[in-house]
Amino acid sequence: TLADSPAIRRLADWDATRLESLVGDYGSPLYALDLERVRENYRRLAAAFPDAEIMYAVKANALGDVLETLHEEGAGLECASAGEVKRALAAAEASDRGGGSGADIHYTAVNPPARDLDWVVDAWEDHPELTITVGAEDTIDRLEERGYDGRLCLRVNPGIDAGHHEKVKTGAAAKFGVPIERAVDVLADAADRGFDVVGVHAHVGSGVSSDQLDDHRAFVARMGDLAREVNEALRASESRTESEATRETSEALDGSLEFVDVGGGFGVPYREDEAPLDLEAVAEATREALGEVDARLTIEPGRYFVADAGVLLTEVNTVKEARDTLAVGVDAGMTTLLRPAMYDAYHPIRNLTADIEAETDEPSDSGRETVPQTIAGPICESGDVFCSDRELPASRRADVLAIGNAGAYGYEMANQYNSRPRPASVVIDGDGNDAVRLARRRETFDDVTRVETNAADPTIESP
Ligand code: LLP
Repeated sequence: TLADSPAIRRLADWDATRLESLVGDYGSPLYALDLERVRENYRRLAAAFPDAEIMYAVKANALGDVLETLHEEGAGLECASAGEVKRALAAAEASDRGGGSGADIHYTAVNPPARDLDWVVDAWEDHPELTITVGAEDTIDRLEERGYDGRLCLRVNPGIDAGHHEKVKTGAAAKFGVPIERAVDVLADAADRGFDVVGVHAHVGSGVSSDQLDDHRAFVARMGDLAREVNEALRASESRTESEATRETSEALDGSLEFVDVGGGFGVPYREDEAPLDLEAVAEATREALGEVDARLTIEPGRYFVADAGVLLTEVNTVKEARDTLAVGVDAGMTTLLRPAMYDAYHPIRNLTADIEAETDEPSDSGRETVPQTIAGPICESGDVFCSDRELPASRRADVLAIGNAGAYGYEMANQYNSRPRPASVVIDGDGNDAVRLARRRETFDDVTRVETNAADPTIESP
């Protein structure tokens, strides 16, 4: 029943010649993202969850092309900041499906800065179907102070977490959500205060794998119980407000939640020998654990749609016999792709130049030896490495390497440390030569200093 695209695109499946030529055309380092692969990933997931509403967690890759592509496929957009809401609204408006009302756009407010709340409440005036998800009681007060009485969802802390690394487990971390035990009271109170209570939400963590399915089941079961309790409380609250005749019966507050959002976190394989997530099993476990609920199931994956649709291309600039390894220097670093430095994350790496040679060389050329090598960036930190002692064809200066599964949390976490401009990004949409488009230009040194008041060419004035 699943869309028939393979569940994982390995780095080896990419066309080496085509990728290498991108560096010739657009320079290095360079992010490349295949939009058709994003669509395939969406359709496969949507086929496994036919009754669910699917939101895309914008934080994984907020490029406008990605947001528009997924919105056109039918995804809503889940945002982590006012900046993301701004991009989501723009993408929804540009999308064929249209989205001027803010419907299908959620803002998940985590310790929201005042500036974010101001901006989003302002945007809500023009996009009245926006949904705001709050993770603390006082965020509700802060919304009320700003005159907001629109669609409200409560993020709960279920006390169960999962994920690929401690730093991305959220389900029990103090900063996320209202403890689930208090959720019914908080929502009943919000409904009494006139908010349009539409959902409950939680997210246990990111990069959840098939062997964490039991945690997933326990978590979703809790969400099902919660949704049923909240529905009862909302019905009670509705009859109270109606009998007091203090407000008109709004269609939105029809005595039940619209959705129960169990978050994202769908893991993807990064290692070559890892199996892809068994989506059918996850979907079945989710349905079973949730049980009968008078509310729609919502999921909000990020990584799943974009991870294997993206590669980071980088050129070798230094090759050196270090004390115990071959040290290979490349022009991308932890400022370009932070995941290995931050989470010790594994990313597949392929030497495109060596692979192309191997296909085209005369048989007389003995080819390259495979040797253990440590591939590192230009940043002055020892953590700035993409791999240590990994067996790869011996790198040479000017080789082009591809780092796989870089479509999720790649460019998004890039930064300008060491005054290093961020790389360019291209999108690929189809097979022909005209299918490649520059999606984001490479930053310049001037981009790095543009916001400084005493830069050579400042674009802002001192306060
Ligand atoms: N919903 C919420 C509320 C989230 O906080 C997140 C991710 C998602 C959905 C999407 O999770 P996904 O489906 O992409 O796993 N930088 C880390 C990942 C951090 C994820 C943060 N929240 C990494 O590179 O592994």
